[in-house]
Formats: sequence, C-alpha cells, structure tokens
Amino acid sequence: MRRAVVIGVGHHLPDRIVENAEFEKTLDTSDEWIRARSGIERRHFASDGETTSSMASAAANAALAQASKAADDVDAIVLATSTADLTFPSAATMVQDQLGMTRGFAFDVQAVCAGFVYALANANALIASGQAERVLVIGAETFSRIMDWTDRSTCVLFGDGAGAVLLEAQEGDGTSQDRGILSTDLNSDGRHRDLLYVDGGVSTGTSGYLRMQGNQVFRHAVEKLAQTAETAMERAGVSASDVDWIVPHQANIRIIQGTAKKMDLPMERVVVTVQDHGNTSAASIPLALSVGVERGQIKRGDLIVTEAIGGGLAWGAVVMRW
Ligand code: UT7
Repeated sequence: MRRAVVIGVGHHLPDRIVENAEFEKTLDTSDEWIRARSGIERRHFASDGETTSSMASAAANAALAQASKAADDVDAIVLATSTADLTFPSAATMVQDQLGMTRGFAFDVQAVCAGFVYALANANALIASGQAERVLVIGAETFSRIMDWTDRSTCVLFGDGAGAVLLEAQEGDGTSQDRGILSTDLNSDGRHRDLLYVDGGVSTGTSGYLRMQGNQVFRHAVEKLAQTAETAMERAGVSASDVDWIVPHQANIRIIQGTAKKMDLPMERVVVTVQDHGNTSAASIPLALSVGVERGQIKRGDLIVTEAIGGGLAWGAVVMRW
C-alpha cells in the first residue's frame, strides 16, 4: 500500500518578536489577560519586505535540506494559506519559482486555520493515487496584515510564520504500524461563516480585517476537534492509548487542554507552541511539528494526531506515523 511519509520538516519565523506587554501601550489589555485567556505570551510579526511566499519558501528549503532533496525532486507544492501575497497567482507558484523548481505543479488550499490539515489530506490523495511521488506541504500566514489593531479581542491572538513537510511515497503493509499518513477526516459547515471571517476581499475592493466571535468559536472548537480526532483514529484503526503526540492547531491553550481531556490524553503527550507563536492559522501545525522534532519530542515511528478548526467553520484531523 502506498503511504505518504514525512521525510523532512522545517519552519521559518520572522525575526520580530512582540511580547504581550507591547499591546498594553495602545490597548486596554494586559499581559495577564492574554496569558490567562489564551496561553499566548509572544508572537512573531513579519517585517515590511516579508511575505507569505517568502516565509513559505524558507520553511520549504529547511524541509528539503533535512530530507537531502532538491527542489526538482518535488512533484507538487500544496500551500495552505488565507493570506497569499496577491489575489492571484497562488502563493504556491511563487514558492515554486523562489525554490528554483522548474517542473511539477503548485496550488494553494484555503481552509483558514484548518488549512494545513486540508493540505495534508490533498497531498496524501495525490500520492495515494500515483499522481505524485513527493509533495511539499506548506502552511504559511501573514495574519498581522489583516489585524484591526484597535480590536483587542482579536489582534493580540495572531502571529506570522511558516512550516513545511516533505512527503514521499513509500510502500507500507497497509497496517497502522506503517509510517506515513494513516487516515484523514475533513469537515466544514458554512452556516457558521459569520463566527470568523475577514470583512473584505476582491469583490469589495478592500483587503479587510479579521472579525471573530471568539467565545462562539471556542464552544464549537473543543467538541468538533475531539470528534474529528476520534473519527480519524477510528479510520486508522488506532485508539487514544496508541497515540504518542497530539499536535493540535495552536489557537488557545484552553482549547488544547479541553480537547486533550476529551480525548483522555494527558498534556504530557501534547506538543504546545502557542505561548511562543500565538495563532498562526494554517502555519501553526507544521510549525509545531518542526519545533516538536527540534525539541526531541517527536521521533521516527511516533503515532501523531493533528487536528484543527477555523473560519468556515472548517475542521479536520490527520493521523500519521512519523
Ligand atoms: O484559530 C481559529 C479558531 N480560533 C479560535 O480557536 C479562537 C477561539 N476563541 C478563543 O480563543 C477565546 O474565546 C478568546 C481568547 C478569543 C477570548 O476568551 P474568552 O474567555 O472566550 O473571553 P470572551 O470573548 O468571552 O471575553 C471576556 C471579556 C469580555 O469582556 P466583558 O464583555 O466580559 O466585559 C471582553 O471584552 O474579556 C474582554 N476582552 C479582553 N480584555 C482584555 C476581550 N479581549 C480582551 C483583551 N484584553 N485583549
């Protein structure tokens, strides 16, 4: 059975780090409130010249280097983002050019904070169906460009960055002991689109700002994340006690804790980066995977569950063996 196996991972974070205290100068907020309600302590913001595609390319180059592969060894780039440099072409084709990749194909996936899970599922299907041998899957965002800096309920929560994995087709036995992606589960429900959206876009002639009813999204999050993780684990034929690491979307430590509790998994088995990155939307899971490997938490052969929810609402989970 063809499996899509991660053979390299990498990330890029902008140099500029902004601590919670910096927001106290311009907003009626506090380091205490932000920490207590979200678990966020700091985040990175892109500098003027930095874009989603430039950060994505840096992360992709790091993943390629770890796998000792060149850009032309890759058949496809699937880039999850809601903050592409331009309305078109896709940020993925820009990354293709920046990497010096002269073959294959590249496209963006837009599922907001669930984007990386959606991109992984798409890349897995490309590999499973024999359309590609190696696929770069990237999550990259520049949410600082769609923040309303006067809205304390959103602008303190998000950050910029990029993470990437290189997937390669490898033969497995078709069991849950195989390395690679074992199962995926994707969901969306457009009836809840007004809970988290950007109030601009091409047809309005403005780029707009992010708007969120945070406590409503919170309510959906814990329930839907635990459910999609459960469905994906069932499809993979594994149970919670088999799981080495949950690598969740990093939006809020309380959502992460609530989901782990519902899944009956202790926090010792959860990779947490929200304190340092804030919510980087589609970049948050590949960033956490890369940092988790760097920290020595995630090791070859580990069973990993990733799960995410965001605007749409769109949510999903992927089970993979590292
Ligand atoms: O990644 C995509 C998915 N997004 C998420 O998963 C985000 C989900 N939501 C959350 O993470 C949380 O709902 C938040 C962190 C956004 C907010 O936490 P909360 O415990 O749900 O607080 P709340 O929205 O119910 O607001 C509580 C209070 C309000 O004041 P009142 O109405 O009780 O007087 C807010 O005005 O906190 C106030 N508040 C703030 N106070 C200080 C909101 N933002 C701030 C702030 N500083 N930055």
